[in-house]
Amino acid sequence: MMPFPIHRLRRLRVSESMRSLVRETQLNPAQFVLPLFVCPGEGIKREISSMPHNYQMSIDEIVKECAVVEALGIGGVILFGLPETKDEMATGAYDENGIVQKAIRAIKRESHSLLLMTDVCNCEYTSHGHCGYVKDGDVDNDTTLQWLAKSALSHARAGADIVAPSDMMDGRVWAIRQALDANGFDRTAILAYSAKFASVFYGPFREAAESTPQFGDRRSYQMDPANGREAMREIELDLQEGADMIMIKPALAYLDLIWQARQRFDVPIAAYQVSGEYAMIVAAARNGWIDHDRAMLETLTSITRAGAGIILTYFAKPAARLLA
Ligand code: PBG
Repeated sequence: MMPFPIHRLRRLRVSESMRSLVRETQLNPAQFVLPLFVCPGEGIKREISSMPHNYQMSIDEIVKECAVVEALGIGGVILFGLPETKDEMATGAYDENGIVQKAIRAIKRESHSLLLMTDVCNCEYTSHGHCGYVKDGDVDNDTTLQWLAKSALSHARAGADIVAPSDMMDGRVWAIRQALDANGFDRTAILAYSAKFASVFYGPFREAAESTPQFGDRRSYQMDPANGREAMREIELDLQEGADMIMIKPALAYLDLIWQARQRFDVPIAAYQVSGEYAMIVAAARNGWIDHDRAMLETLTSITRAGAGIILTYFAKPAARLLA
């Protein structure tokens, strides 16, 4: 029994119409979430040098940006804050009148159907740039949980639809769920950055968010890139603690884990195509070494094919425009 010449797989590749008919993976702007960086001031829109077309924006500019994002049919935005001042206790993270809290209220007044997510973490708010309370040279897990719970609650109070803890402390999902429920926010969803790796690909983000650690690194709390089984344990525990959705981050270097998670857990799975993944494509395209739009769509398609239904990506706007 010879498969050839009976079977010719090229028959289904003869034209664009035929290829569309049999295409297995579709992209939809509603699955994208655009990360935005909010800074103090008015009328400010400062481009981030390592992330072209992405900006630090004051609240008035963010509100305008969200209207554009909503009109493009993009699923939502996730907010990161650049506070006026930083301190040892990350006060700006859970201040009811903090930069992100104010931005949420302003956006909610204008964009009614756009989903608003917030990144719940302390590294943008601490003077040392670590993700929590530093004691004896390392981040103290259980003290940090209290800050995270307070931050998530302040975001929910301001009107966030989804809170997304990205700090990698143990027990944070449980601490956040309890704080939300105890205060009447049982309808605020939690998207846990469950498997977040200590990755080199966050470099450009740290410029954008001004959150580079002043000493050491994040390897005592973020995961070792070598560990896939441990990633499944992190996801399992976050689901037990009450996460509604889980995330794998970065995306492209961890497609195997997205795929494994898809097979094992019946919850929505998000992947974060992080700053370094974005910067590599844009930089190569600027040098004429790669086609920007095709690299963008190919990576987004691959992340979707691997099993992520939600993608946090700095390409949300150009990708939505191309797909329209
Ligand atoms: C905050 C946080 C980081 C990113 C998302 N949330 C930075 C970090 O952990 O250092 C990275 C996102 C990106 O690179 O695009 N903890």
